[in-house]
Amino acid sequence: MYTVPKLTDYSAAALDKAVAELLGALEAEIKALTADSDLRSFRDRWLARKNGVLAQVNELWLKPAPQDAKKLVGARVNQLKEVVQPQVERLSLYDLVDSRKPGLDRLREEDWKQRRQSVLELRWAAERLDITLPGVRRPLGAQHPVIRTMNEIVAVFRNLGYSVSEGPEIESDYYNFESLNFPPHHPARDMQDTLFIGGQESKALRERLLLRTHTSPVQIRTMEKMKPPLRIVIPGKVHRNDAPDATHSPIFHQVEGLAVDTNITFCDLKGTLEHAMKALFGSDVKTRFYPSFFPFTEPSADVQISCIFCGGKGQRDGGPCRNCKASGWIELLGCGMVDPAIFGFVREKQPAYDPEKISGFAFGMGLDRIAMMKYGVSDIGQFYSGDMRFLEQFT
Ligand code: PHE
Repeated sequence: MYTVPKLTDYSAAALDKAVAELLGALEAEIKALTADSDLRSFRDRWLARKNGVLAQVNELWLKPAPQDAKKLVGARVNQLKEVVQPQVERLSLYDLVDSRKPGLDRLREEDWKQRRQSVLELRWAAERLDITLPGVRRPLGAQHPVIRTMNEIVAVFRNLGYSVSEGPEIESDYYNFESLNFPPHHPARDMQDTLFIGGQESKALRERLLLRTHTSPVQIRTMEKMKPPLRIVIPGKVHRNDAPDATHSPIFHQVEGLAVDTNITFCDLKGTLEHAMKALFGSDVKTRFYPSFFPFTEPSADVQISCIFCGGKGQRDGGPCRNCKASGWIELLGCGMVDPAIFGFVREKQPAYDPEKISGFAFGMGLDRIAMMKYGVSDIGQFYSGDMRFLEQFT
């Protein structure tokens, strides 16, 4: 059996010879191993901290080496460790793991043969690239239909020179209602069944927090930050305490628009929205404006487009069109001229909004219903179900 010799000659040639002898001895011992060998003592013989072969190499070669040979001997000893340690460890691995279970360390002959291959061979086998295997598939994601619709609408207005503005979903009563001309307790608040954050009774009403019921508060927030002229679109998520059904969800999305400048008229509003509806639904689509009410616009209107399913005829496939309830029109959004009272609220922070000098229009549309029409979705709840089978249809 191999024993580590003392060195007298520290030349490179003598070191190489000693290293070769040691590796030769290791190889011979590995060849002689069988499935019945005691691998634990094989391992200890080479790697034991006290008196293992590698430890002896340290003691007998490195420590006594003269100063001028230390560097060379150190390098050789390290190389040796890097070769010997992984080979011995690899071979004795199972037995280290199972040493407390006698019998389990007996390996089948096949297994054993494999483990006797050199470390390099094993590593090569593990890292080898099989170019005939199929590659890793990364399934393509897709935009959610509501987000896609949002991006389309925003793009239409960007092309008209609008920029994008955003605001918080948790909003104060002041921005969601009061500054938009909904006085406290005014019945107009009832149109937007609101989810309030609890436990705020000690705060002044205007500071109490709620989930915004529309994107209109971002009109005020943006005007407070930026002087006129202003042209912005505001996409975002909004919340109302509505019971869910095929056309209602307590979460939905809106895109808001606001233009403020000198001499903005209702004609500008009509022309802008007519252009946008044609860009979104095709150049055949007609728009009509219907009197309505919002506290923050005066006058106010609802905008309807000719039904894109029956072409405005109200009849389809020999019966009444179900999408427009045979009316030929579909209501899509609310709009109007910015009420001068709104500029009054904004002026507290941004005096440039003088209702004597400027005017503006605003509009707001629900995105989900538009997405439902565009993609033929009959239940709004599907947008929020997270069902992959539904979403995969849009990849
Ligand atoms: N904020 C209104 C709503 O949610 C829509 C709207 C926006 C109306 C802007 C007029 C102007 O019902």
